[in-house]
Amino acid sequence: MSVKGFDIAIAGGGVIGLALARALAGEGARIAVIDAAEAGEGAIPPASHAAAGMLAPSFEYGELPEALSKALYHFGARGLSLWGEYAAALEEETGLSIDYRPHGMLAIAYGENDKTPLEEQAAMVSALGGAAEMISGDAARAMEPALSDAVIAALHAPKDAQVDPRRLMKALKASLAQKGAPIFAMRLARIEKDGEGHRLVSAGGDHVEADRVVLAAGAVSGLAPQGLVYPVKGEAMAVALEDGLLTRVVRAPGAYLCPKAGGRLVIGATEEIGREDLKVEPAAVAGLQANAAKAVPPLGRAAELERWAGLRPGTPDGAPILGLDGEGRYLALGHYRNGILHAPAAAEAMAALVLGRETPVDIAPFGLGRF
Ligand code: GLY
Repeated sequence: MSVKGFDIAIAGGGVIGLALARALAGEGARIAVIDAAEAGEGAIPPASHAAAGMLAPSFEYGELPEALSKALYHFGARGLSLWGEYAAALEEETGLSIDYRPHGMLAIAYGENDKTPLEEQAAMVSALGGAAEMISGDAARAMEPALSDAVIAALHAPKDAQVDPRRLMKALKASLAQKGAPIFAMRLARIEKDGEGHRLVSAGGDHVEADRVVLAAGAVSGLAPQGLVYPVKGEAMAVALEDGLLTRVVRAPGAYLCPKAGGRLVIGATEEIGREDLKVEPAAVAGLQANAAKAVPPLGRAAELERWAGLRPGTPDGAPILGLDGEGRYLALGHYRNGILHAPAAAEAMAALVLGRETPVDIAPFGLGRF
């Protein structure tokens, strides 16, 4: 296969690649997406497929150097602020629900050891202009009556939201189909310079040619410059959710709980660097369900619906890589635990960059040069 004539080729069919493709195609650019996840046996689904879909700019960062943390918080907050309209527009455009739920989040504490970091977190988020307050255990139970009596306090983030990532991916693909932007199932072996343009070549010699190229590929694509993006494996599960048991996302020690449409509760997630397999350890899901049941006791007897693993695209400092490399390729890589949250913000910023406009938020802190 040899396909030419695209303005922009996007290597990567995860949420970042698809959201960027939608933004660029919406501006009239001829876009092709290259998606390795569909390229036959052994293909790894994008991390977006495994994600829980929490839209929570004040969490999910792990260990982050202080210099980047503000920029990253503001980038996530930009994503959250765009999400409501983004979800509504995508649903209207495609006629597909993505189960966007702007119901807030409770991060719970069972004792002083859990409470102190939440207090620090709430203070930091408030200082950065976000919405987060500490509330008592009783106030948390007034919001979520199924919470355990062992909860003594909670951080309440009233503006946090969530979405269903698999529904989102389906809707983004439908949007691209409507816009006439093809998705090619190819595992890329290399990207070559081709005069002023780029040739994206598979191991079998298929290729796609485009004037510009964006790398938005995942943890095991091997396409990230200097090997800076690597897999951080996460295991998760879904259990049956009794009607009305939970409304908000609950973040408990050792598990987060995300109630979804259709009587499904997603419970996540483990975190392990250096594994590239999608095997789910029985002890891992047992641990997740036990931690979820400590927070919401009826979950101890909830029937398991599914278990899975995914590979998050991690980076050395936990922040994404956005900008240009030294070879004229655009980079939208390494969104680690926050790809779903970041997607609308990354799409608007990268679309602006690729089309030669000023980006709505400063992405300079996320440039490759920081490594
Ligand atoms: N954002 C949730 C996770 O990475 O587990």
